[in-house]
Amino acid sequence: MPQKDIAAIILAAGKGTRMKSDLPKVLHQIAGRSMLGHVIRCAHEIGASRQIVVIGPDMPDVKAAAQNENPDAEIAVQYAQMGTADAVNAAREPLAEFTGDALVLYADTPLLTLPTLEAMLDARRAGAAVVVLGFRPDDPAEYGRLVTDESGDLEAIVEFKECTPAQREIGFCNSGVMAIDGALLFTLLSEVDNDNAKGEYYLTDIVEIARRHGHRCAAVEADPDEVLGVNSRVELAQAEAICQDRMRHAAMLDGATLRDPKTTYFSFDTVLGRDVIVGQHVVFGPGVKVADGAVIHPFSHLEGADVGTGADIGPYGRLRPGAEIGPDAKIGNFVEIKKARVEEGAKVNHLSYIGDARIGKAANVGAGTITCNYDGFNKHFTDIGAGAFIGSNSCLVAPVKIGDGAYTGSGAVVTEDVADDALAIVRPPQVEKAGWAKNFRQKNAGEKN
Ligand code: UD1
Ligand code: MG
Repeated sequence: MPQKDIAAIILAAGKGTRMKSDLPKVLHQIAGRSMLGHVIRCAHEIGASRQIVVIGPDMPDVKAAAQNENPDAEIAVQYAQMGTADAVNAAREPLAEFTGDALVLYADTPLLTLPTLEAMLDARRAGAAVVVLGFRPDDPAEYGRLVTDESGDLEAIVEFKECTPAQREIGFCNSGVMAIDGALLFTLLSEVDNDNAKGEYYLTDIVEIARRHGHRCAAVEADPDEVLGVNSRVELAQAEAICQDRMRHAAMLDGATLRDPKTTYFSFDTVLGRDVIVGQHVVFGPGVKVADGAVIHPFSHLEGADVGTGADIGPYGRLRPGAEIGPDAKIGNFVEIKKARVEEGAKVNHLSYIGDARIGKAANVGAGTITCNYDGFNKHFTDIGAGAFIGSNSCLVAPVKIGDGAYTGSGAVVTEDVADDALAIVRPPQVEKAGWAKNFRQKNAGEKN
């Protein structure tokens, strides 16, 4: 059957009181991206040409976040929370002319995968007017129950409060996610009433309504992990753990070695090349790309950084946003790099801060070197030429330029540019006083009682 247009209706109007947070629930993050962002990305990947995000009346942050993730996202406001059918109904106006497949997604259910949504759309195209995503949790608790007939078609969704004792025994539960014939959706919704235990307009009622009109309904089953809804910080942590496990698994299948996978923490957009080795306890914040064959040693923290082929980071390396580490370059222990390019084969091996800088090809930066990049008001640039050698414990007071192949002596506070191949020494000459120490000891020992 030909592919139809897809519109995703993303429910984000919930207050999320159980999060006990000043931040709207759906903006809490999983793997460095908001839950809403995960759902918007998923909708995008399934090919939803329209995305309608349903928010509450006073949610400017959620609106901004949605439009930041997808500038084409449309915002619909649900003014009073009168139930899930009422929430979907907020999309009635923007989707008035829409006749494709409507997907109802929950912004607090961020772990849905593409194959599951594809299976739902396949069931839609096979003739079901409403396709509901079900799951079989260990404890069905108070989820709505999916009532199916002998052929497996969906007959009804019964909310827990409305269930007969026999229906409560059903283990197949409603996740809330649905794929609905867009040409029927709002006609079906018009027939939903609030004559039920909660006095709410239940979206779940559209199954029985559709069947009354002679339409087939179907259920697709998902792994319970995928439909985990986040209502509290405990569930947020559970969702994070599931998401991390997925990313670890995918990274290993893509050819990276994780020495102790459960201690590698990824962001949603981490990219690892082939034969990358990641040691224990490494954290990848957002925006990190690591090229083939690079090694990230234990206890390193990377964020907004590019690591080149065969480069070597850590242990205890810290790469901050704008760090570009060239091929075969080496960043050693307790070295922090911020907004700086370390070119091919250059080494910053021990205890250094390099910020707002370029370190030329094959340059060697000695232990304890600091780029003094900030004067309290502005940031300034340090340029270190190819093959330069910076002596240990140097302060490079920016703006300053060290020429290609130049040396700076240890302990220098370099405030002036150094020419190519020159040596800059900035320290008082050494003074030696013969026998001084011995005399000092003897004198003090004599006075001690
Ligand atoms: C709903 C389903 C139930 C399912 C469960 C899965 C209905 C009637 N019931 O129940 O079958 O097992 O989810 O978690 O759909 N929301 C709005 N506006 C509203 C009401 C809800 O945006 O007026 C949002 C909520 O913020 C939430 C989602 O819709 O994200 C579900 O609403 P909730 O009240 O949690 O429904 P449940 O009773 O859990
Ligand atoms: Mg709920």
